[in-house]
Amino acid sequence: MKFTTTVLTSLAFLIAKSNAEASLGFDLGVQATDGSCKTAEDYKSDLDTISSQASTVKVYSVSSCNTLQILGPVAEDKGFTIALGIWPTPDSTFSSEKEALTSYLPNISKKTIQAFLVGSEALYRNDMSASQLASDISEIKQLLSGIKDKNGDSYGDVPVGTVDSWNVLVDGANADVIKTADVIYANAFSYWQGQTMNNASFSFFDDIMQALQTIQTTKGSSDIDFWIGETGWPTEGDNFESATPSTSNAEQFWKEAICAMRGWGVNTYVFEAFDESWKPDSSGSSSERHWGVWNADRSQKYDLTCDFSS
Ligand SMILES: *[C@@H]1O[C@H](CO)[C@@H](O)[C@H](O)[C@H]1NC(C)=O
Ligand SMILES: *[C@@H]1O[C@H](CO)[C@@H](O)[C@H](O)[C@H]1NC(C)=O
Repeated sequence: MKFTTTVLTSLAFLIAKSNAEASLGFDLGVQATDGSCKTAEDYKSDLDTISSQASTVKVYSVSSCNTLQILGPVAEDKGFTIALGIWPTPDSTFSSEKEALTSYLPNISKKTIQAFLVGSEALYRNDMSASQLASDISEIKQLLSGIKDKNGDSYGDVPVGTVDSWNVLVDGANADVIKTADVIYANAFSYWQGQTMNNASFSFFDDIMQALQTIQTTKGSSDIDFWIGETGWPTEGDNFESATPSTSNAEQFWKEAICAMRGWGVNTYVFEAFDESWKPDSSGSSSERHWGVWNADRSQKYDLTCDFSS
């Protein structure tokens, strides 16, 4: 691989607990192939498929498609943990999210929830200011301290944070969010940076290193709960600048970027578990439907083994 010594030395320095083979999780869509909301049966089959690789999934909203109500008990039953997204805009949606937390968290046990993530690229999209997001994170912490799980334990000590694009996190203007969040998840897509396969894994390492460095400096500690929130490579669709979707490129990115990053001890969520055939093209790219590690029918697209010995 083509990493410079500087990148690897810096990364080794940044990763306090170098527990090789860090955790792996998958971003999970909540709509079936025809665009309808997934049922408990759909989630059972999804998690049975994912369980060959991982036992944690991340979703973007708790109220949309009644995700927390339906997925929560299924995940718990299957021994999965969930990183639960909370969509903060507009206010009416944020209210529905808070209602869903209050209504359905008492029906599961808190060990099922890995973290609460307020906003997903909300700063990247300019949906809100950093101070507003920091205030929403604080509001969710406050809300959770008053909610008990099915065993009567408070959710108040489950981490609450956010997930955003690496370049937004390294922007000093957003430091308030990093300070307020218990956990930070950073997204980094070499594909959307238009990278060739020659540079895709280097670019990924460079992005994540910068995000980690900023978070550690801002927090004044290297003992932080950090995950990569989304990364991956599409298997079909249009080129984006110099980036080309294909199954072999996705497999190469898996081995050289995702496995390698986990080998350095960084927990990683892969975008995404399954192709989402219901999705429309966005920003002129037909790749949106083809990010799955598994096809929409849950068949696996390429080899997912990681060699952590090298
Ligand atoms: C609570 O979870 C159980 C499954 O464990 C489910 O059957 C029930 O419908 C859930 N209750 C609510 C209010 O969603
Ligand atoms: C490789 O990626 C790095 C980091 O994203 C970037 O600065 C550099 O310009 C890229 N190199 C090429 C040849 O594209």
